[in-house]
Amino acid sequence: MMEAAALERKYDLGVIRWFSVMAVVYLVVGASAGVYIASELAWPALNFDLSAITFGRLRPLHTNAVIFAFGGCTLMATGLYSVQRTCGVSLWSSKMAWFTFSGWNVIIVLAVLTLPFGITQSKEYAELEWPIDILIAVVWLSFLLNFVMTIAIRKSSHIYVSNWFFLAMLVMITYLHVVNSLVVPVHLFKSYSIFSGVQDAMVQWWWGHNAVGFYLTAGFLGIMYYFVPKQAERPVYSYRLSVLHFWALTFGYVWLGAHHLQYTALPDWTGSLGAAVSIAMIIPSWGGAINGVMTLSGAWDKLRTDYVLRFLIMSLAFYAMSTFEGPLMAIKTVNSLSHYTDWTIGHVHSGALGWVALVGLGAIYHLLGRLWYTDIYSPALVNVHFWLATIGAVIYIVAMWVSGIMQGLMWRAYDEFGTLAYTFAESVEAMHPYYAMRAIGGFIFLLGVIVMLYNVAMTIHKSAREGSLLTARAQAIADA
Ligand code: HEM
Ligand code: HEM
Repeated sequence: MMEAAALERKYDLGVIRWFSVMAVVYLVVGASAGVYIASELAWPALNFDLSAITFGRLRPLHTNAVIFAFGGCTLMATGLYSVQRTCGVSLWSSKMAWFTFSGWNVIIVLAVLTLPFGITQSKEYAELEWPIDILIAVVWLSFLLNFVMTIAIRKSSHIYVSNWFFLAMLVMITYLHVVNSLVVPVHLFKSYSIFSGVQDAMVQWWWGHNAVGFYLTAGFLGIMYYFVPKQAERPVYSYRLSVLHFWALTFGYVWLGAHHLQYTALPDWTGSLGAAVSIAMIIPSWGGAINGVMTLSGAWDKLRTDYVLRFLIMSLAFYAMSTFEGPLMAIKTVNSLSHYTDWTIGHVHSGALGWVALVGLGAIYHLLGRLWYTDIYSPALVNVHFWLATIGAVIYIVAMWVSGIMQGLMWRAYDEFGTLAYTFAESVEAMHPYYAMRAIGGFIFLLGVIVMLYNVAMTIHKSAREGSLLTARAQAIADA
């Protein structure tokens, strides 16, 4: 208990606890919305003729809930925790961290209050209207400032590599968000982008791709570089490789946006450049994945008993898979088949469910015992969750691969007279079994998250029963 009191005195952990719990809650909400919209695609009657719950309205609610509510709270919990531990100091400003927490949650509530009612800028991953965009910029800057200043007051001489990845995310997302959100407001709920036509598309996908590259990838790599070595109780396999990974990823990713706009009004060379750099990105991405997995070398047996480590290592397998698939899909000839189809959705979710969710949840499981000074309520349930998440994700992804490639092939099939062999409606009909399969895969994944929420609640309850947190806090106050 002395050790717990020392930790409580030395670090700011209260806000991390709240971010961690909210991350799991938001994943339950976001994944439920995902299962619902997946079911609407399979069984459209679920729209119930209510505009607020149609697929078009709920889809952005799903993406905002999983990316910004779950992803944001996970990044803030893990970033603000690991920066303290790697710098050997508590947060520069505890008050500012609470401001970030409250502000971020207000934004999430505003998203829920606007998106179902059609209040949107209609830009993917940047749907929220301008007053909320301003709030996002302010709250995000508070996260950035606290992170940078905590590094500035560090006691360690070195800035550990996980912080570099978090910093890249913080800086890039700030300017991407600000530039892509430049609008002329008409009134409180409506605005028009200052960009138009091709420029608008280019700026939107410069943001869109880098939201993936810096938020869903660099930020989560920051998580990987801190939590995999910690959970494995071994230093990262190659520190040199991690630095190479960082620079190659940071310089490469910003050039990829145009691969979302192949065969459009954009100059052709921009798409070719996007494709070429995308292919090159296999190298740093796989270097990073191998670096993470090899951290376990000589200690593979840990995977048999350490269920949290299983989450982290499986996430790296999915990371490797999606960063092989992405460059493949960026090649123009492949993209001419995959674009507009469910193949993209399969790729998205192998990254989202397999990489982002698994690494984030693994990190939160790692934090659970450390934040509440007790053992996880049920390690067996962590294992159950691991299998539900893995099986659910695989069913989802396989369903989308099959339906996506089938869609692409049906749309481009010609009969002997040179006319299209299938109508669009026929291709929609052919999708039905795969949409049902995706809804089932998603439901299994969701069950896993509900099991986790139960385990989190019971661990907190256990800690309260044992009085672990209260004793540590009281001791910390007495020592001070
Ligand atoms: C139970 C789990 C989930 C289910 C059932 C689910 C389902 C769906 C569905 C049905 C769509 C719309 C697909 C379409 O337009 O054809 C979608 C889109 C999307 N989801 Fe999920 N989802 C889940 C979890 C997640 C998670 C955890 C993330 C991120 C961390 C995520 C990120 C996205 C993104 C980025 C899109 C937009 C894809 C695009 O526009 O290409 N999803 N999801
Ligand atoms: C080297 C790494 C990667 C490359 C080169 C890459 C490339 C691509 C390509 C070519 C597309 C399809 C564009 C289109 O036809 O519209 C795409 C879509 C997407 N990728 Fe990746 N990808 C990579 C890794 C990842 C990872 C790790 C994630 C994590 C979640 C991810 C998330 C997404 C999302 C969300 C979309 C859908 C965007 C949209 O249309 O709404 N990608 N990616």
